[in-house]
Amino acid sequence: MAILLAGGAGYIGTHTAVEFLNAGYDVVVADNLYNSKEEAVRRVERITGKTVPFYKIDVCDGEALRKLFSEQTIDTVVHFAGMKAVGESVAKPLMYYRNNLDATLTLLEVMKEFGCKSFVFSSSATVYGTNDTMPLYETMPRGMCTNPYGWTKWMIEQILMDAAKADPELSVVLLRYFNPIGAHESGMIGEDPQGVPNNIFPFITQVAVGRRPLLTVFGDDYNTPDGTCIRDYIHVVDLAKGHVAAVPYAAEHPGSVIVNLGTGKGTSVLEIVHAFERVNNIKIPYVIGPRRPGDLTECYANADKAEQLLGWKAEKDIDDMCRDGYRWQTMNPMGYTE
Ligand code: UD1
Repeated sequence: MAILLAGGAGYIGTHTAVEFLNAGYDVVVADNLYNSKEEAVRRVERITGKTVPFYKIDVCDGEALRKLFSEQTIDTVVHFAGMKAVGESVAKPLMYYRNNLDATLTLLEVMKEFGCKSFVFSSSATVYGTNDTMPLYETMPRGMCTNPYGWTKWMIEQILMDAAKADPELSVVLLRYFNPIGAHESGMIGEDPQGVPNNIFPFITQVAVGRRPLLTVFGDDYNTPDGTCIRDYIHVVDLAKGHVAAVPYAAEHPGSVIVNLGTGKGTSVLEIVHAFERVNNIKIPYVIGPRRPGDLTECYANADKAEQLLGWKAEKDIDDMCRDGYRWQTMNPMGYTE
């Protein structure tokens, strides 16, 4: 029995692969390498000393996916195979809707054909929309998203909940990620965005190694203690372990469940920049720029449900995230070079 990681060559997928392998599961990776490199899967094998069958396929391709399912015995699908750049999704909405929805539907259809009944989805706190009551609880209604990327997560959650309602044997776990950052402590795998990073943390690490001259802090006039936005940053290894905890839960609980994966603690942009400087003994040059349209003042989780249901809780702190993220970037200043 193996876990299929759809989109498993990416940032969160590779870290999740390591944690599944360390927990004794077999792992199969499917990835079209649109936003990732096969080298990342080889690094997972080096870290764990285990073999990972890799399929360079697009999970929207039903025939290729059927071939994978006929060659491997897949027990659970963990689905990360989606496009995730907010700005790009505004410019190319049809591509985002087509790809992200198709990937999910094809996975569900092929799983059904092969009798695979367990699905873990990489959702996002973005589905809470512009809800501004913090912390965010899973019981809160989903909000209005501000971009097509967010809507794809919102729609996929709906599709999965409907699918679980219609099939009494299907288990679906919707994991709502807050802001995953950092890297595996080996420094061998980490975040490797293509082009200019959209998210703050890879931007900071690229400034730290001299790939970019300075960081722009998007606004310091928010209604927060230091004026910069607050987010719930979570170490990617903790986040990965949340997926491992979701699998035994899914096996015993048909139906759908929503679980936040966050720390429950908010950190401002300037706090993270200064923590990074202190922990790594390095200066991060930055300027204060205008606000980025669409940014929320605050976004952090109530993380109790994950502990109650899955027995999972984030263990690493901001200092660990800064230390591990910097190690990855110094060991791989240009990311994965193949
Ligand atoms: C963003 C997306 C969110 C998505 C998530 C994961 C937006 C509005 N939201 O979350 O939908 O699920 O990424 O990919 O894009 N910042 C700077 N300078 C930078 C970059 C960011 O100051 O160069 C600030 C932002 O203003 C924000 C914080 O850092 O306050 C975090 O930004 P980011 O890492 O992009 O994450 P989110 O915006 O929370």
